[in-house]
Amino acid sequence: MTRTKIKDALQLTPGGAITVKGWVRAYRSNRFVALNDGSSLANLQVVVDFENFDKSIIDQITVGSAISVTGDLVASQGAGQSVEVAATSVEILGTANPDEVAKTILQPKRHSLEFLREQAHLRFRTQTFSAVFRIRHAMAFAIHKYFNDNGFFYLHTPIITGSDAEGAGEMFKVTTLPLDNVPKDESGNIDYKEDFFGKETNLTVSGQLEAELGALALGQVYTFGPTFRAENSNTSRHLAEFWMIEPEVAFADLTDDMKLGEDFMQYVIKYALDNCKEDLEFLHNREVELDSKKPTAERNEMPLMDRLNFVVDNDFERITYTEAIQVLQNSKPFKKNQFKFPVEWGVDLASEHERFLVEKHFKKPVIIYNYPKEIKAFYMRNNDDGKTVAAMDVLFPGIGEIIGGSQREERYEELLKKCKDFDIPEEHVWWYLETRKFGTVPHAGFGLGFERLIMFVTGMTNIRDVIPFPRTPKNAEF
Ligand code: 4AD
Ligand code: MG
Repeated sequence: MTRTKIKDALQLTPGGAITVKGWVRAYRSNRFVALNDGSSLANLQVVVDFENFDKSIIDQITVGSAISVTGDLVASQGAGQSVEVAATSVEILGTANPDEVAKTILQPKRHSLEFLREQAHLRFRTQTFSAVFRIRHAMAFAIHKYFNDNGFFYLHTPIITGSDAEGAGEMFKVTTLPLDNVPKDESGNIDYKEDFFGKETNLTVSGQLEAELGALALGQVYTFGPTFRAENSNTSRHLAEFWMIEPEVAFADLTDDMKLGEDFMQYVIKYALDNCKEDLEFLHNREVELDSKKPTAERNEMPLMDRLNFVVDNDFERITYTEAIQVLQNSKPFKKNQFKFPVEWGVDLASEHERFLVEKHFKKPVIIYNYPKEIKAFYMRNNDDGKTVAAMDVLFPGIGEIIGGSQREERYEELLKKCKDFDIPEEHVWWYLETRKFGTVPHAGFGLGFERLIMFVTGMTNIRDVIPFPRTPKNAEF
């Protein structure tokens, strides 16, 4: 008999035989099996009447084992489900030794997220992580749908590049040179001519520069790919390998860019509310329960689904960097010397400042724009004031920066000057500069950190818990 997915089985009306396959989540009274196949959060109850089965079969139905069950779909007597399967045959697909299971997170009880991370190979089997990763999938789909429906083309930008798009130099090198005997040139420098690509290469920190080339022909493009940063930041918001979505639009300025960012974020969050209800409700209730055990000051002001609805229903606040500094300087924590980092025009905002603006002052997503040019990347368009660039960051409650973007410097001479100011060798970006010579136009784009979006949508507070296999300093186990 063909297999019915548990998600679909739960929607059927009683009557008729079905076959389901899955992993045993729990097993009680030698009779009731909670079976899950990953298709949905909910388990299907399977009733295995031990009197009708060989003891050898019954003994192998243990937590973590995989089984195939054929039986009649009947109305359930118990609470919590409308249908269940009365097993007529059970096949053991894969056993799981109870003594070994006892040492793992497969044991059906609450485990700490830290413990779950140590068993990242098994954590998909838990309710929390299956919910997170089903939502992650839905969000990736929503992103492609949004751009496709709005006439954007998906552009695959390279993972191995020869340029440093963000100019921050925090890159992973890609080389086939022997590490124990690196060839040197006459002046003692590494001779990259002998390397695989005949030049120095690294893993990309952003697909933006290549996306710009695409946008200046295809009009509207976006990238969605893995991104690598070798920064040594061991925080709950940084990964060494993360996924970034970078739309790039020709004939657009900073105002258009901010509008796109807001519309896009509201669309994908609404998509989650409309399409991931069961998983979101589970994560919502989980958070409410965890919050109830915390001191009031540490609780979320709004529960998960209210936060998502709030972002969908309310306009984002827009303020310039200069206004943001003023708000901060007039704030209580500033006057009481409670900020750790300085607040004055020209400094990069620290996470404590961003959180104050978003969570305490405006209490909604905030777009800060027109930043001092010194603290932003070389490709951002100079404003006429001579001090700021047409940059924007979108800040979200509980997350901080979720999007970073800008209008790009489309004027050849200005861009050339910026390359010099930022010590970017012309020969590294000659191809980028050339687009400014042949039919240059105003254009703008941004980058969304996919995992930060998933953190916001799922309410998970550590970025390591929203990517299947996190890469962070000193951690690449799985
Ligand atoms: O602000 P960033 O560095 O901007 C860029 O890379 C631009 N080239 C984007 C563009 O304009 N096309 O990064 C964009 C976003 C951040 O706002 C953040 O959400 C995420 O990428 N991000 C990270 N996420 C996880 N771990 C890290 N180490 C991240 N660094 C940036
Ligand atoms: Mg940024």
